[in-house]
Amino acid sequence: EPVLRDLAAAKGIYYGTAVTASKLNGTYGTITGEQFDSITPGNEMKWGSVEATRGSFTWSGADAVVAFAEAHAQKVRGHTLVWHSQLPNWVSNGSWTADTLRTVMTDHIATEAGRYQGRIDHWDVVNEPFNEDGTRRQSVFQTAIGDSYIADALRAARAADPAAKLYVNDYNVEGVNAKSTALYNLVKSLKEQGVPIDGVGLQAHLILGQVPSTLQANIQRFADLGVDVAITELDIRMTVPPTTAQLAQQKAEYKAVTAACAAVARCEGVTVWGFTDSDSWIPDVFTGYGAATPYDENFQPKPAYYGIAEALGWV
Ligand code: G3I
Repeated sequence: EPVLRDLAAAKGIYYGTAVTASKLNGTYGTITGEQFDSITPGNEMKWGSVEATRGSFTWSGADAVVAFAEAHAQKVRGHTLVWHSQLPNWVSNGSWTADTLRTVMTDHIATEAGRYQGRIDHWDVVNEPFNEDGTRRQSVFQTAIGDSYIADALRAARAADPAAKLYVNDYNVEGVNAKSTALYNLVKSLKEQGVPIDGVGLQAHLILGQVPSTLQANIQRFADLGVDVAITELDIRMTVPPTTAQLAQQKAEYKAVTAACAAVARCEGVTVWGFTDSDSWIPDVFTGYGAATPYDENFQPKPAYYGIAEALGWV
């Protein structure tokens, strides 16, 4: 069978997967190590996972992911330092002034990014800062600190780990639309101000039949702005149980998304949000949908897996 990480390397990109630390053994661990050259902890580096109680840290899951990556010559995508979701209650329900929350936020970044300094290739520093219409999401950070929280977070991350590439990551920004244009304008403004920003992550939680036709053009416009781009959380969901025709269409769409990244020099790589349908968030959140990843629940490669390989030059 084709090896995605080798094919991707020959094309100048990486191929990654989100992982669940507790599953990194047996067949799940074998496929993760053999097929992918970047891994993203699905939950283990989120604020609520590492500091549920103020000042009390749990690093076991995050440490396990980093150690696995080092044992398998993989990059690590750190996910994520500042996000409105999976925040501990003490952060989301605190009554903050701008200064106190800014200090809490930059201390968190210094602690977490500092712990893994030199061992993380890409950090999703800020996750999901925009609403669909391109206005700022009213997260606790936005509300208490204001627009500048993103620049503050990026500067803190650069100070904590100068070698990591710093990304802003969001969903529904894959095509050219109001939300991706807001992200574009943010990056432009950050660069003009000299704020450290290295890339944008397009999550790509897609629905079968709805891959944006402007995906490659959108990647290209960010590249032209002078930042890298990555597809960070790719999955393509469909109604279940899937038909043969749906699986064939999913193959074509995984191939198209992978090809769009490979076609733009500044697109660094693609990460699937779980490589197996047994480790996907989709069925828990979208009733009646699933089958969103390249391997089925029994770790058998689906047509989508061969679509990825074909986009990477496998014949
Ligand atoms: O760990 C507990 C477990 O102890 C408990 O028994 C179980 C019962 O519900 O919940 C478990 O926690 C769940 C956790 O995933 C680990 O499985 C949470 O309820 C569940 O909410 C959480 O979902 C995660 C979700 O982010 C939270 O918003 C998904 O796994 C994760 O894949 C998903 O990832 C996000 C990205 O970080 C950002 N972009 C969107 C993407 C999909 O939502």
